[in-house]
Amino acid sequence: MLYVPGFGEAAISISSGTDEFPRLGHTFRVVGDVTGALSTLKEGDQIGVRGPFGNPWPLEELQGKHVIMVAGGIGLAPLRPLIVHLLEHRSDYKSLKLIYGAKLPNELLFRREFAKWKEGGLDLEETVDRGTLQWSGHIGVVTEVMRPFSGDLEQTRLLACGPEIMMRFVAREAMSMRISPAHIFLSLERNMKCAMGMCGVCQFGPEFVCKDGPVFSYERINLFLRLEDL
Ligand SMILES: Cc1cc2nc3c(=O)[nH]c(=O)nc-3n(C[C@H](O)[C@H](O)[C@H](O)COP(=O)(O)OP(=O)(O)OC[C@H]3O[C@@H](n4cnc5c(N)ncnc54)[C@H](O)[C@@H]3O)c2cc1C
Ligand code: FES
Repeated sequence: MLYVPGFGEAAISISSGTDEFPRLGHTFRVVGDVTGALSTLKEGDQIGVRGPFGNPWPLEELQGKHVIMVAGGIGLAPLRPLIVHLLEHRSDYKSLKLIYGAKLPNELLFRREFAKWKEGGLDLEETVDRGTLQWSGHIGVVTEVMRPFSGDLEQTRLLACGPEIMMRFVAREAMSMRISPAHIFLSLERNMKCAMGMCGVCQFGPEFVCKDGPVFSYERINLFLRLEDL
């Protein structure tokens, strides 16, 4: 949680990995008061930091597996530390794939790192909703890029982070590819206040996103994810 005095507090993930240690990096999209205030900060200004709260990506589950990560927009920020870790331990995993979608090519985050990630052994596929004259990559939604995967699906773990509507479709596509719901992990986004399971603001069915999540297996939240506006 990042707190800007006079503006408030918002849940913002850590987007730096061990590559940037001991610095702590955050990546945010300006949507409101707190992110707006964060965007105006100058070097030397002070902010408050609380956390980390909640659970991490299920690293132990990924050991020795094919790992598919699907990110949409700013959703790549919380996946970045994981990508850095997986690439540092590349030989511990059968294969690493990232499918990353954004509305426009210039909205793809961390583009300067893509070449290094690919050299390190990440199979990276980018897609955008709308291309530009310079864009020669895929145009369309991330689920279109998921399907050709042909690895051993029992040995595959899928992680997704992005807009909830995207994650619903990603989870459904993964199920139709016969990836078990227990092997699909989604990072949910809800407004936060206390971030400690006390206030109920982030409640999602019987779960508190701040305390029990934000990462949930699809098996655990499948029923509630189907309900609009929950
Ligand atoms: C676990 C977790 C991790 C998060 N990590 C990040 C992160 O790394 N980077 C990041 O940028 N955000 C992240 N978010 C989202 C961020 O907490 C919210 O966007 C937050 O509301 C921003 O606070 P604000 O005061 O700037 O905007 P608010 O004042 O809360 O919102 C202003 C307006 O923007 C709308 N709005 C809020 N969020 C979004 C959105 N995501 N998309 C479109 N419109 C929106 C609201 O409906 C409202 O109308 C995360 C959320 C969670 C739960
Ligand atoms: S933010 Fe208060 S219970 Fe989750």
